[in-house]
Amino acid sequence: MAIGSSLSRVFPLGSRVNDLGRLEIGGCDTIELAREFGTPAYVVAEDDLRSRARAYLQAAAETGQEDFGVVFASKAFPCTAVLSLFAEEGLWCDVASEGELHLALAAGFAPERIVVHGNAKSLAELAMALRAGVGLIVIDNFDEIDRLRDLLAGEPRGAEPQQVLLRITPDVKGETHEKISTGQADSKFGFSMIDVPEAVRRVAEVHGLALRGFHAHIGSQLLDLDPFRREVAEFGKLAARIPGLDVWDLGGGLGVRYVAGRESPPEIEEYVATLVDAVRGSGSPRRLLIEPGRSLTANGCVTLYTVESVKRNVSTWVAVDGGMSDNLRPMLYGARYEAHVADRLGGSVSCVLAGKHCESGDVIVAEAHLDDPRAGDVIVTPATGAYCYAMGNNYNGVLRAPVVFCKDGDARLVVRRDSLEDLTARDVR
Ligand SMILES: Cc1ncc(COP(=O)(O)O)c(C=O)c1O
Repeated sequence: MAIGSSLSRVFPLGSRVNDLGRLEIGGCDTIELAREFGTPAYVVAEDDLRSRARAYLQAAAETGQEDFGVVFASKAFPCTAVLSLFAEEGLWCDVASEGELHLALAAGFAPERIVVHGNAKSLAELAMALRAGVGLIVIDNFDEIDRLRDLLAGEPRGAEPQQVLLRITPDVKGETHEKISTGQADSKFGFSMIDVPEAVRRVAEVHGLALRGFHAHIGSQLLDLDPFRREVAEFGKLAARIPGLDVWDLGGGLGVRYVAGRESPPEIEEYVATLVDAVRGSGSPRRLLIEPGRSLTANGCVTLYTVESVKRNVSTWVAVDGGMSDNLRPMLYGARYEAHVADRLGGSVSCVLAGKHCESGDVIVAEAHLDDPRAGDVIVTPATGAYCYAMGNNYNGVLRAPVVFCKDGDARLVVRRDSLEDLTARDVR
C-alpha cells in the first residue's frame, strides 16, 4: 500500500502508513512497537476509544433524551486501563461477574454507575454487588429473586433500596452468529415474556428491592437496525401492560467492521437516533440505558505478531507467535479478520495465517493475502479490541499478551506480558 494512502475503517482512527512504509497506530511505528514490547501484543489507539465514547455521548445528547446512560459492556475489553479511560469519559459500566465488578471498581467507576448482569449469579456475587452499592442489578431468574431476598434479610442495608431491572427475552432475533444471539425466546438469558408479570410481583414482595424497569440484550455484531426496533416495540408492550417502570436498558449489540469492504455497520449516531426514535414511538421511559461493548473497542486495537515460519503444504502456511490464546474468536465463531505485513500493507500472496497452538483449528485468518511473507516479519491483524484480550488464555503454556496504549507517538505499557512465574503462581505446594 502506498505511503500516505488512507487506511480502511477496520484500522483504528488516526492510523497511517508512515514515510518508512510502516503502519502507525496512535502515532507509533508498529515495527518499533514490536521491537520494544515484543509480540504478540495488543496495541490500542487511545484516541480511538475516546472518540467512540464521545460519539456515543454526543449522539445521546443530540436525541434530547435527558437521562441517557452509555454503559460500557466491560466483557468486551476487561482491562483496567480501558475501563478507566471510559470512566473518565463519563460512561457507565456493565459487569457480569465478581471479577468484572472488582475491575470496574478498581478502574474508578462510581458504584452507582455500575450495572450487574449474569444468568447464574452466585450468592457471593450478589452480596458483593449489594455491598458495593451498585446502581442496578439486572435480575435474570426467579432463583435470583429468592437469593436477593435471603441476602437482604440477612444483611440489613441503609434506607435506600437496591434498584433492580428484570432481564427479559423479548423473542427478537437479529442476524448474527447463533452463539452470540441472545434475544430469542429459548435463550439462557432472562425471563420469558410470559413470566414477567409474576417476576414483577415477586420482586415487589422483597423488602429492600426497588424494581425500576427492564433490560434486554438481543445479540451481538448486529449490522441491521431493525431487530433493535423490534426489541423496543416489545419494551413498549410491556410498559403498556405493567406501567410505572421507567428505566429501559436496551443492551448492546451494534456490529463493527472486521474486514474492509465486508461489513457496513450503521454509524453510532444512526444507531442511537434509531433507538431513541423507536423508544418515542413505544413509550416514555424516564431513563434510557444502552450497553455497547464491541462498537466501543473492536476497531481501536490491532494485534501484532511475528512470523515464525512460512511453508507450503498445498496452501502457504504462515505461522505466527500467537493465535487462539490471544484471539479465540476465529475458533469460537468462525470470526473473520484481515492481516497485513506491518511494513508492507496489502499484498497478493494467498496464505493461511496460522497460530502456534496444537490444534489444526488454530487459524487466525483462513484466507489472508500478504505481501511476500517471510520469517521475522511483523504481522498486524486489525479490529482485535473486542472479545480477544477478554478471552485470552494460556493454552500450551503460552504467555498472555501485553496491552500497549498509543497516543500522539507515545506508547505506554498498561498490561505486561505474563511471565513464566505467572504460569505457576496459582500452584499450591
Ligand atoms: C448484557 C449484555 N450487554 C451488552 C453486551 C455487549 O454487546 P456488544 O459487545 O455486542 O455491544 C453484551 C454482550 O454479550 C451483553 O451480554
